[in-house]
Amino acid sequence: MKRRRGRSGDPRATAARLLQQLTAGRSLSELLAGATESVPARDLGLLKEFCFGTARWWLRLAPLAELLLKHPLKPRDGDLHALILLGLYQLEYMRVAPHAAVAETVEAARVLDKPWATGLVNGVLRRFLRERGALLTRVDRDLPARYAHPQWLIEALQKEWPDRWNVLLEAANHRPPMTLRINLARISQPDYFERLRQAAVPAQSIPGIPSAAVLEQPMDAIDLPGFAQGLVSVQDAGAQLAATLLDLQRGDQVLDVCAAPGGKSAHILESAPEGVTLTAVDIDAGRLARVRENIGRLGLTAEIQVGDATRPEGAWAERSYQRILLDVPCSATGVIRRHPDIKLLRKADDIPPLAARQSRILNAVWPLLKSGGMLLYATCSLLPEENSAQVKRFLAATEDAREKTINSTWGHACEFGRQILPSDDTMDGFYYACLQKA
Ligand SMILES: C[S@@+](CC[C@H](N)C(=O)[O-])C[C@H]1O[C@@H](n2cnc3c(N)ncnc32)[C@H](O)[C@@H]1O
Repeated sequence: MKRRRGRSGDPRATAARLLQQLTAGRSLSELLAGATESVPARDLGLLKEFCFGTARWWLRLAPLAELLLKHPLKPRDGDLHALILLGLYQLEYMRVAPHAAVAETVEAARVLDKPWATGLVNGVLRRFLRERGALLTRVDRDLPARYAHPQWLIEALQKEWPDRWNVLLEAANHRPPMTLRINLARISQPDYFERLRQAAVPAQSIPGIPSAAVLEQPMDAIDLPGFAQGLVSVQDAGAQLAATLLDLQRGDQVLDVCAAPGGKSAHILESAPEGVTLTAVDIDAGRLARVRENIGRLGLTAEIQVGDATRPEGAWAERSYQRILLDVPCSATGVIRRHPDIKLLRKADDIPPLAARQSRILNAVWPLLKSGGMLLYATCSLLPEENSAQVKRFLAATEDAREKTINSTWGHACEFGRQILPSDDTMDGFYYACLQKA
């Protein structure tokens, strides 16, 4: 008997609906967080794979679908368009039996209440299987399709990294590793690696970042040895550099201005010398709840306040600090491998307003730094407007600010600050600059 899932339980139809909403400007993390009840619990991993994978390759799959469809679909059939891309994604990138992928995707058109489209979906996917080589050769003539990245971003990377832009684009299309941050205040690196070995979880260390452990295979965080006891957290190795770069001293007061969801706040507290206190501020009260949750699990404490860093006000703004971490909102072009929807959501026109906002935050927060103190400016962007050029402008306009050069083996020296490129030593693409107050 033919298997028919309920209207709302089909992971392909659900993925198509979510992907349609992604094209209307909503992020996949937000959409998936609201969709946990849409499919049976056992299918949540598959739903995530469908959404993330199709989004990752959307810009290659969409021109492919255009070649395969005789007539463009109507705007009201955005879900069907997404379903066709999902079908192509399964055939090209997933290790699934083609006939099963085609049959399930055709069936999902029915679940979407579009039984008239079953023949169309079937025809398109079967033609792709027959003519795959020739079709891919045709779409891959265009760089955005070949690298599945938007034209504006390809051009920006070509300009900044002329000898490795294509390597960066390829790296951004790889699945990211799962990296752990070992709580070195509670367990040594060799002891935690031994716990991983006993649990049959293969992992590698990263030279120069003793807190990092890169897993060979991702797994559920709650199943990690010592996770519930706060021995370990999930955090990219590039993000783990912030706490070290802050160079905390005993008794320092630290302000983490754009703190949510709190990965770096937690690491700062975990690795801080005695007497260090942390104030974590973010404009988004909902995201601040995650800071509370993160540092609570680790048994740490911080003062957590809602605040707008462009207009510091309230108790946190009436003090001054020896250290400030400014992990500003940015284009997130360095973390595309983790958030492939950025390729569809972010536009070239977003960059100047983002850079202006970063500049406002930097100028507004600088007066809260004590003389002799240090502000660590951080982004997960690859774009110079948000990074080196931003810092250059700030230094030129701010008399009491000096750059403290970061001497390290990781990353690439920019005119100001240091850039990590995606997949350098397994890391995400981060940028750091240390600014000292004279
Ligand atoms: C890159 S994320 C920070 C990540 C965080 N530091 C961590 O390691 O988990 C940027 C944060 O800036 C916050 N943000 C954006 N505009 C802000 C503003 N004007 N004032 C304070 N926070 C802001 C966002 O809500 C977001 O949580």
